[in-house]
Amino acid sequence: MAVIAVTKERRAGETRVAAVPETVKKLIAAGFSVVVEAGAGAAASYPDEDYKAAGATVAKTAKDAVAKADILFHVRAPDAAEIAALKKGAIVVALLNPHQDKTALSALAKKGATAFAMEFVPRITRAQVMDALSSQANLAGYRAVIEAAEAYGKAFPMMMTAAGTVPPAKVFVMGAGVAGLQAIATARRLGAVVTATDVRPAAKEQVESLGAKFVAVEDEEFKAAETAAGYAKEMSKEYQAKQAALVSEHIRKQDIVVTTALIPGRPAPKLVSAEQVRSMKPGSVLVDLAVEQGGNVVGAKPDQVVEVGGVKIVGYANLPGRIAFDASALYARNLAAFAGLLLDKEGKFAPDYADEILKAALVTQGGAVVHPALKG
Ligand code: NAI
Repeated sequence: MAVIAVTKERRAGETRVAAVPETVKKLIAAGFSVVVEAGAGAAASYPDEDYKAAGATVAKTAKDAVAKADILFHVRAPDAAEIAALKKGAIVVALLNPHQDKTALSALAKKGATAFAMEFVPRITRAQVMDALSSQANLAGYRAVIEAAEAYGKAFPMMMTAAGTVPPAKVFVMGAGVAGLQAIATARRLGAVVTATDVRPAAKEQVESLGAKFVAVEDEEFKAAETAAGYAKEMSKEYQAKQAALVSEHIRKQDIVVTTALIPGRPAPKLVSAEQVRSMKPGSVLVDLAVEQGGNVVGAKPDQVVEVGGVKIVGYANLPGRIAFDASALYARNLAAFAGLLLDKEGKFAPDYADEILKAALVTQGGAVVHPALKG
């Protein structure tokens, strides 16, 4: 019986956990046994007793848990000590940040681990249930608006009171992918007047269907700007300049700006300049979800709230980690579904490396980095 280990996340500020009691039950029912490091779920409010009740063994240390494991489930890349403790050929499944975190990648390769990056699970229908980027982005988009509301000294909804009317907040969401659409929906629920932009033409209809207004230069380049996988392309300098002019005019009238723009494998595009930040009214708030990939807003700093002329730039690096209970539950379900791919039809532990999803997500195997996008 294959053993899955789940250890505590050791990266600073990482509160999520890669399995929750519900998924432990599922994994056991599928034929795995599960060992959880003591306290692994504590920061996400999942106590050890609940893992035990679900059928997991609780190990005292990460090393104890990892040493027995055929498979290690993690949120972020395991640390050096965990990698060192891995059994030969063990499987590691995590959000490995493979384009940026070369240290973890080469350590996993060196150890001979078979590592899968959840970021590389392809966006095909069969893999939707394993789409961790989407599950986490959804919650990040929600949380971004909650953070904005918290940092904002005014109300979101319009309120008509005997003492007069409070105007609604104006919220502008830049990047209308999974996180952006959830940010739009959340801001609308709070009563804000919402506008949004994106470089993918398909986003326009989605933005409008949520009751927000779409703001973008809609030229020929815009109409062609989407890859087959549904991701954004990097736009030309000319397009960026035209779009920046339109955005400048719009941004100075906004109370809240939420930026979520990413291009896979590239640094986040800079969408809000220092000058545009300065053009906003004091009390305005920007929340930059792309801060870990370099940021969309000039001046955003990871895990800091920076104030520029009375405008706050909120740069929490790990927004899903600020809603850790739900983020863990969704991510854990993504992993539990992924675990199904490691079994054959009879339920025996026998990963089929020819499977389209496993092939796409595989980053290290047999002592080397094997993913075509990461080699060289
Ligand atoms: P992402 O996290 O890579 O990027 C976020 C958003 O930023 C995207 O909408 C992107 O177009 C936008 N963006 C990039 N550069 C920009 C710029 N310069 N200005 C403005 N916006 C910019 O994208 P995410 O959230 O992962 O989703 C991408 C698309 O894939 C969406 O249409 C989403 O609905 C779709 N999707 C499809 C799935 C499936 O078919 N199974 C699953 C999940 C998402």
